[in-house]
Amino acid sequence: MPARRNKTADDITSEVLRRFAETPEPRLRQIMLGLIKHLHAFVKEVELTEAEWFQAIETLTEAGRMCSDKRQEFILFSDTLGVSMVVDLISHRKPDGATESTVFGPFHRLGAPKLPAGGNIAHLDKTGTPTLVSGRVLDLDGKPIKGAVLDVWQAQSSGLYDSQDASLDGLHMRGKFHTDAEGRYLVRTVRPVNYPIPSDGPVGRMLRATGRHPWRPAHIHFVVSADGYEPVTTHIFDRTDEYLGSDAVFAVKDSLICDFVRHDSGDNAFGDEPARLGIDPPFLTAEFDFHLKPGSERGTTVLDAQQRLAALGAAG
Ligand code: BEZ
Ligand code: FE
Repeated sequence: MPARRNKTADDITSEVLRRFAETPEPRLRQIMLGLIKHLHAFVKEVELTEAEWFQAIETLTEAGRMCSDKRQEFILFSDTLGVSMVVDLISHRKPDGATESTVFGPFHRLGAPKLPAGGNIAHLDKTGTPTLVSGRVLDLDGKPIKGAVLDVWQAQSSGLYDSQDASLDGLHMRGKFHTDAEGRYLVRTVRPVNYPIPSDGPVGRMLRATGRHPWRPAHIHFVVSADGYEPVTTHIFDRTDEYLGSDAVFAVKDSLICDFVRHDSGDNAFGDEPARLGIDPPFLTAEFDFHLKPGSERGTTVLDAQQRLAALGAAG
């Protein structure tokens, strides 16, 4: 009599787990066994039908076809399912006082120009309200970090990133700033606006089918790095935004919410800086200090992965 084989769904799960149990590399073994355990449990719990299984295959195939150097539908799935934020929380458990991280998102581009303090990342944006974002980069004891690099990117006041805007073919709303001896930085931009994440693909269909909106609250992206410190990938958010409580990608953290203060006249509340930069009222100012945690190694960031891909000729 041949041995009883694959009689029940649980028999199949056990057999698959046994076959992967010999994976030599311990971390890969842990990941594969956990994946199979949870994937099988999910299929059994919802009693996935063949038609639903095939719909999932078609959705993933479509997501793959949509990916290019300007579009990453899988990151959008990860973000809108909340997976990116869970990974972020696990990967960046900060000691008290360090600036919290949040999602990298799909719109960072390599090659942003190096700009001096007060440099304008929004030079082609003619409709947004001029805004100065300033602050310091400090260590956990509050000591200034000189020469820290702030890689900054933001959507235009139209709500589109440069890579989504067919009227542009170069970089816009991007810059790299360096801190001075007091750890200070100064970025000139326009007021960030809320905008919908791309919803013309399978992620958009998922959001509509589940009654979710695609909006992200107004924000500015930063990767802040310095020698001897762990880099932080984060945003600052506008405190007045209506989507702070329902960000499509779950990325808001209280500590990253910031006041964008409006100045209607030359009230001198922000010193001579606006006049020196040729900014007339009305304009906005926002202040935010970044606190970096020491780290002898840089660690691997999403930015590093993007740089690796670019070196292989896969991303712009
Ligand atoms: C962004 O803020 O650029 C973004 C983040 C996650 C998904 C889509 C967009
Ligand atoms: Fe964004």
